[in-house]
Amino acid sequence: MTLSQSALSQALSRPFKYFDRVDSTNDVAKAWLADGALDGALVIANEQTRGRGRLGREWRTPPDSALALSLILKPDKSYLPRLNMTAALSVCEMIMECVPVDAGIKWPNDVIVQGRKVSGVLPEAIWEADQLAGAVLGIGVNVRVDFSGSALRESAISLEQAAGRRLDRVVLITALLRRFDAWYSQIGSPALFDAWRSRLGTLNEVVTFHDLEGVATGVTAEGALLIRDANGRIHKRGAGELVVGARHEDR
Ligand code: BTN
Repeated sequence: MTLSQSALSQALSRPFKYFDRVDSTNDVAKAWLADGALDGALVIANEQTRGRGRLGREWRTPPDSALALSLILKPDKSYLPRLNMTAALSVCEMIMECVPVDAGIKWPNDVIVQGRKVSGVLPEAIWEADQLAGAVLGIGVNVRVDFSGSALRESAISLEQAAGRRLDRVVLITALLRRFDAWYSQIGSPALFDAWRSRLGTLNEVVTFHDLEGVATGVTAEGALLIRDANGRIHKRGAGELVVGARHEDR
């Protein structure tokens, strides 16, 4: 089924806005949240012209080639750190159900297939003074993005490359949202944490986190990574850029 307003109207039972082309679904979702969107509302696009990734990076969403969606959520603020977990785990499960191939998580929320990144998550909290107005949870999945000839060709992958066949984006979105809703309804549960941790490929690896090098020994219930340095000291790290492997002079 081609991704379109009418296909999504048949498949989804939540408020949604579909765009053929948009700057960033996260930005549209933030505006909709300010305009009174309900918890669970969804923004979805066939193409993004200014898709945003983590750490200020660009996220490519060429037309007809990916899932680019943003969920508008109103969780208790204590659960904000778990939105990442919920999204990355749901993407993994969707891939294992629909493609189907094995999928894992590179801390904190990159979804990895065959050693390459297939999906990323961009959560953004919106505050009014010290009140949480809501959160926008952006999810991007490469379905048939062509990375040949791009700087990402060694590190990124599309689901159709792994599947070796054509995939239906409406089917993928439906499965992803079904998994997401099931986990979101138990966002505070130990089961969510355990399922997320069981997909995490980063544990017991040598990692470099900015200036810190060590072994990833565990994760906290909020999703922070614990790194043991060469002196045996344990450091807790939140969001940031993690490199799996030892640091090299040229990195
Ligand atoms: C990452 O850097 O890994 C996060 C990528 C998140 C991309 C998604 S695509 C839908 C949503 N809209 C955006 O502009 N970004 C997120």
